[in-house]
Amino acid sequence: MKIVVTGATGLLGRATAEHLASVGHEVISVDRKSGQVPAGTKLVVGDLTSLEFCDSVIAGTDCVVHLGAIPNPIEPRQYTVFQNNTLSTFAVFTAAAQAKCRTVLYASSVSAYGTAYSDKWTSPIYAPMDEAHPLVYEESYALSKEVNELSAVMWSRRCDTSFVGMRFPWTNTPEKTLELAKRFRADETLPPDPRFPVGIVAKILWTYLDLRDAVKAIEIVLTSKTHGAEVYNFCAPDTMSNESTEKLMREFHPTTQLQGDFSGYQAPISSQKFVDMFGFEPAHLINRESI
Ligand SMILES: NC(=O)c1ccc[n+]([C@@H]2O[C@H](COP(=O)([O-])OP(=O)(O)OC[C@H]3O[C@@H](n4cnc5c(N)ncnc54)[C@H](O)[C@@H]3O)[C@@H](O)[C@H]2O)c1
Repeated sequence: MKIVVTGATGLLGRATAEHLASVGHEVISVDRKSGQVPAGTKLVVGDLTSLEFCDSVIAGTDCVVHLGAIPNPIEPRQYTVFQNNTLSTFAVFTAAAQAKCRTVLYASSVSAYGTAYSDKWTSPIYAPMDEAHPLVYEESYALSKEVNELSAVMWSRRCDTSFVGMRFPWTNTPEKTLELAKRFRADETLPPDPRFPVGIVAKILWTYLDLRDAVKAIEIVLTSKTHGAEVYNFCAPDTMSNESTEKLMREFHPTTQLQGDFSGYQAPISSQKFVDMFGFEPAHLINRESI
């Protein structure tokens, strides 16, 4: 298939372009910033908030993997993240509908549930959180993810393209995930790092995903039959902590209603809907002995 990957000089986009090209797809990498793209793939530089630009790169393609975005709300006035992330996504969906693409897969985020980036400490209403859990956020990154999910629903009513939103958790290489895992309970002893706000590991509910599982899941979605607009949580089934999830939740999120067994390292976010639909779950789990 001919596939456009946006955000392709970024972390997830580059890994996705590389994986899709390696399994034989024709990949067009798109980003507003120049950078390295996998051998054999073409890079087109431009801004996705422009509909003309989106039309020009998406015309004649089968699928779009839309990963181009500002990946966090760390901007005090909230405006730029909202403007960039919602407008670019709407333009990508508009162009994909016109091009009669078969599937658009786009990155949403489990941050949409609100616990990760709220200034006030917030907790899930219940765990494991499934896709029906309310989105209770107070910042523009999470808002932009919900707006994008609603844009997908609207476009799915106007055209035959299917829209799949992936609510990813922290997604990275095993090394970076281990680095983050080690910050848990060590915030005060380690030098401050703007990438890791204090308390972030408990705020993301110790969830993670290995990049290799993310790109495999993307490939599986693109080659499956999908319809309409759906969103899926997609996280590793375990946490990045060596303490039981029950103990962690009782200490950091005592108001959360625990539904199910958390006596081990079970993730407090459920990816069951994705597993039931696509028959695939993350296989690259954290090395517990190294935490
Ligand atoms: N990596 C994670 O932990 C994680 C977790 C959940 C969701 N996500 C989502 O996955 C997607 C990719 O995240 P990432 O971690 O690879 O981020 P990244 O910052 O590494 O890559 C994003 C890329 O998008 C490009 N981009 C941003 N705005 C653009 C625009 N208007 N036009 C063209 N290109 C634009 C940037 O230049 C960048 O290269 C984002 O939607 C992010 O919200 C990431």
